[in-house]
Amino acid sequence: MVAPLPAQAQQELTERGYSRRQIGRISLMLGVGTVMAGLPWHKSRADTLSVGGTYPPGSILLNSNEFWTGPFPSALPAGQKALLNGNRYLTGQERQTLVETAAAYDHIAPELITPWPGSSDPLCRTVISFCSPTQGLVTCDPTYETVWGVAEWLKIPLTKVPLRPDNGYKADVRAMLKANPHAGMYYICSPNNPTGTVTPLEDIAWLSRHIPPNAVLVVDEAYLHFSNAPSAVSLLGSCRNLIVLRTFSKLFAMAGLRLGFSIAHPNLHDRMMRYDGIYQTTMLSVPAVAIGTDSLKDRAEIEKRRFETKQNRKVMQACLSHYGVNTIPSDANMLMADWRKAPEPIVAKLAQNNVIIGRSWAIWPTCSRITVGSAHDVQVFCKAMESIGPLLK
Ligand SMILES: Cc1ncc(COP(=O)(O)O)c(C=O)c1O
Repeated sequence: MVAPLPAQAQQELTERGYSRRQIGRISLMLGVGTVMAGLPWHKSRADTLSVGGTYPPGSILLNSNEFWTGPFPSALPAGQKALLNGNRYLTGQERQTLVETAAAYDHIAPELITPWPGSSDPLCRTVISFCSPTQGLVTCDPTYETVWGVAEWLKIPLTKVPLRPDNGYKADVRAMLKANPHAGMYYICSPNNPTGTVTPLEDIAWLSRHIPPNAVLVVDEAYLHFSNAPSAVSLLGSCRNLIVLRTFSKLFAMAGLRLGFSIAHPNLHDRMMRYDGIYQTTMLSVPAVAIGTDSLKDRAEIEKRRFETKQNRKVMQACLSHYGVNTIPSDANMLMADWRKAPEPIVAKLAQNNVIIGRSWAIWPTCSRITVGSAHDVQVFCKAMESIGPLLK
């Protein structure tokens, strides 16, 4: 049973143009613990995502952009100690230590940081909070589709601006603004999932300066740690409509532990939490917070994982190129491979060889996203590629 939203919240949503049915859906999404779990489309994608998917034991999982090994070894003692305290809820002190450690990492004020159980909740929540049936959502295409699902479900106008080779597959911010100059939210994933391409800070700053006064620019930095690109947090001083999202699910290898945070001016966080208070941001996993906090202190391990990913990506790219398969130069733990034909038989053949690769996007139906795994994973992938050689002819 989901509690209805407070009358004031319902009235505000009505004034923003949401129908009763859409408000019911919002209350369902906010009420189920994580916003993501409330989305019906999420279920239907379960077999293409590893979420809910099952694979034979020993499969090489190159399908969900997870890291190939566990969390940082240096953070495990804190995690083990925290497990023994698992009977207690997270304390304010533990939460604050995470926030201060994250703030020190990025040289920003702790007041700008709000932790979450992963970044999916704040991602969905930004669409609910800043878009409406009259204020749309603008994104690139292809990009991470969670925000598309929320917009479609709530009937929020959605504009997708194609990435182009002549622009280096970066977000074309001028085209994004032109496509809908009156949107409520503009979303840029940088490095982008699935291309791994980085949008320069000058472009992000330009878009932030030109969007409507009430709109926000969400920069999803889930993959930032794989790249040496600067973070958009450096723009927060001048771009007060910017929301930066981070997750521990990728390089920090904590996808199953659930931890992330959003970085924004407090008034934007207030707007994101105006329907259900700060509950979600305080009910975090105690071991996840302990491991996340200590991981952020281990810069050497971050460097090491970034370097290894880059090396393994190069090997994977060279292997694909050997078979005539083009890839987009990537700054993250994924490669978009263009088979120049329907991927299904190739994906199936790789799966027969225990290698599970990622999905395609409708705009580029001949491409598949492949996650960069460990050196061993890449070796197995390259061996499996021998068997698909004939399919590529
Ligand atoms: C770009 C991007 N943002 C956000 C997420 C959500 O991750 P999580 O909820 O695990 O933090 C993902 C997951 O794959 C992603 O690729």
